[in-house]
Amino acid sequence: MLFKQQAWLRQKLLVLGSLAVGSLLYLVARVGSLDRLQPICPIEGRFGARGQAEFPLRALQFKRGLLHEFRKGNASKEQVRLHDLVQQLPKAIIIGVRKGGTRALLEMLNLHPAVVKASQEIHFFDNDENYAKGIEWYRKKMPFSYPQQITIEKSPAYFITEEVPERIYKMNSSIKLLIIVREPTTRAISDYTQVLEGKERKNKTYYKFEKLAIDPNTCEVNTKYKAVRTSIYTKHLERWLKYFPIEQFHIVDGDRLITEPLPELQLVEKFLNLPPRISQYNLYFNATRGFYCLRFNIIFNKCLAGSKGRIHPEVDPSVITKLRKFFHPFNQKFYQITGRTLNWP
Ligand code: A3P
Repeated sequence: MLFKQQAWLRQKLLVLGSLAVGSLLYLVARVGSLDRLQPICPIEGRFGARGQAEFPLRALQFKRGLLHEFRKGNASKEQVRLHDLVQQLPKAIIIGVRKGGTRALLEMLNLHPAVVKASQEIHFFDNDENYAKGIEWYRKKMPFSYPQQITIEKSPAYFITEEVPERIYKMNSSIKLLIIVREPTTRAISDYTQVLEGKERKNKTYYKFEKLAIDPNTCEVNTKYKAVRTSIYTKHLERWLKYFPIEQFHIVDGDRLITEPLPELQLVEKFLNLPPRISQYNLYFNATRGFYCLRFNIIFNKCLAGSKGRIHPEVDPSVITKLRKFFHPFNQKFYQITGRTLNWP
């Protein structure tokens, strides 16, 4: 009898012990990202000494949980409202450039507790049908956030679409605009690779890059080819400058975001007037993927989807040289206008 009681007690202690260890691990995971941060400020005191927003991190953790429950249907709209959560128009937009690293930039900025991302590309300003639905439709597409957080969306087609600058200006003339660029020839090849993959998925054949990028009649660069046109960054930027001063733009070096993301993200934090919160802890190099991935805490990590970081086809070196020569004067102009010199050939 005594032996039976002892065994029962031992079993109970084991269960309790495992529960305690489990809870401890859970807590460490939840606050994993917090221990790198400055002391948590009270919810009321949201603004730091330098006028920069301080964010109630515990509340943000709670918000994530609440929104999760809301999506699952376990929390009501009232509860969301009660906790001050609102759908806000973006205060910053990643307007392009397609294949510049727009997804990586958005996901990485989303590591910041003050940033909330719109997960999907909304295509509000570049799609006439969506635009006709009105600004409330757009706002309703935004994620829930605290009023002191900033919402960011990305739709790379905005950069090259004629009507977009004026439409964004009408919504908010002081909005911050982020443009992530890559060396123009590499970007054009990346653009081609995406289209090629789409064709192959549908069992369709497609031209070689060289055939599209070089006009066979003149043997010059084919400026009618969209992948080439999109890489003439200065031409597109000039249209935007009719509406917004250059101070409202920030240029992100997409090639550096691949190899050394943190300094690029720190520049963006500064541009957005956010306190520096993204650290090396949040970014780790994944050798299998060949890219940096994101670490939210000791449990939750993620890499970008496999469609980001495709292997590019081999391109005739003489075509690459021709394209680089073609882009060179446009690049110089782009450096001059933006004040950011990138070491493109
Ligand atoms: P490639 O597929 O040519 O390598 P976008 O999101 O604008 O479509 O850009 C896609 C590009 O983002 C990819 O182009 C890839 O090089 C780049 N990129 C930058 N950082 C990345 C990361 N951490 N993981 C995956 N891709 C990344």
